[in-house]
Amino acid sequence: MAVCTAGAVDLKDLDAQPLTAKVEQVEADMSAIQKQGYDHFLLKEIMEQPTTLRSTLNGRVIPAENRAQLGGLNLTADELRDIEHVVIIGCGTSYYAGMLASYYLEQLVDGLTVDVEIASELRYRSFNLPKNSVALVLSQSGETADTLACLREVRRRGVKTLGVINAVGSTIAREVDGGVYVHAGPEISVASTKAFTSQVAALTIFGVQLAQAKGTSAQLLNQYIEELAALPDEIEHVLKNQKDSIQQVAEKYATYEHALFLGRDTLYPVAMEGALKLKEISYIQAEGYAGGELKHGPLALVDDRFFEVMLLQNDWLFEKSVSNLAEINARGGHVVAITNSHKQIDAEAVIRIDTKLERLSPIVLNVVQQLFAYYIAAARGNDVDQPRNLAKSVTVE
Ligand code: G6P
Repeated sequence: MAVCTAGAVDLKDLDAQPLTAKVEQVEADMSAIQKQGYDHFLLKEIMEQPTTLRSTLNGRVIPAENRAQLGGLNLTADELRDIEHVVIIGCGTSYYAGMLASYYLEQLVDGLTVDVEIASELRYRSFNLPKNSVALVLSQSGETADTLACLREVRRRGVKTLGVINAVGSTIAREVDGGVYVHAGPEISVASTKAFTSQVAALTIFGVQLAQAKGTSAQLLNQYIEELAALPDEIEHVLKNQKDSIQQVAEKYATYEHALFLGRDTLYPVAMEGALKLKEISYIQAEGYAGGELKHGPLALVDDRFFEVMLLQNDWLFEKSVSNLAEINARGGHVVAITNSHKQIDAEAVIRIDTKLERLSPIVLNVVQQLFAYYIAAARGNDVDQPRNLAKSVTVE
């Protein structure tokens, strides 16, 4: 029991015996939990990503020294070098952040095995963790019940656990062996946006650090370091110059009831996250699929009650995604293409972003999807910050 008076907090246990408690001061900026003129927290949180991402990167990415590293991992250089297997664990948006980052870890660290697991599945499986594994536990709130259960099980098996957490002082943050806070600030809206961006960035820094320890080629590392450093400005550019045009496109699709998001490679997890964001706040039934799976089922769904979001990246898979798009067009689909390419694209609507990033452009495309989902949900008059039936922190199964 805590009896709070103007000048004191008096703590007692159930037998009314006085308790002493260690007081920890949590730095809280009141402006961070106000809407600051925005209609919804969700829009505010999308718009503040350049700033929150800078906090994630601050002191951790130093392009002038070709260096990126996280403090607080509590791993020696030898322990870092010896890591052969990484398992990334999370739920919801944190799971998709882990999935996107897993592609970067694989690109960065030759020979590294990376698994990404949904916490509620992993905890009931008889899974095996090889020697020299490290578990990366992702959570915005640091309180998700399934993620916490996995953390405890993995620790019980003697595997090192590292947290990538937003909420300072949360249970998962206190129980991991080491890790980092992403410093995205309080996220009020149930649908997670800025935490996703910061989690992917933090995991990418981890990947660079691991690659540095293992001696990956400096050229690849420098590209990642430069792109990480440039990411906040690139997101800022898109938010500033394209917010209104994204709104215009989104509002044209606000009356549909079904949507399919497609992407290949790093854009596959982005497609899954785009579908999740849309369904959470707009209640449009949305699925995310790997582009190559189109012919294995979802193509059957294409009709006039459906729209498709096709994510296309200006890379070696661009033409493959264009073929998927053509297949949907041939069946009379309604495709919104979101791309960083300047090449000709035949779709009902095209949202082009202007970015110099190559490796990390999926993170920018995801920001476009966040705005797209927001404007559709707002046009439908939904309570976008508090979607029906959902909770911000899922602390029970
Ligand atoms: C809930 C929230 C999601 C979040 C997920 C995982 O479902 O509504 O936005 O992604 O939990 O939460 P965590 O705090 O562990 O990242």
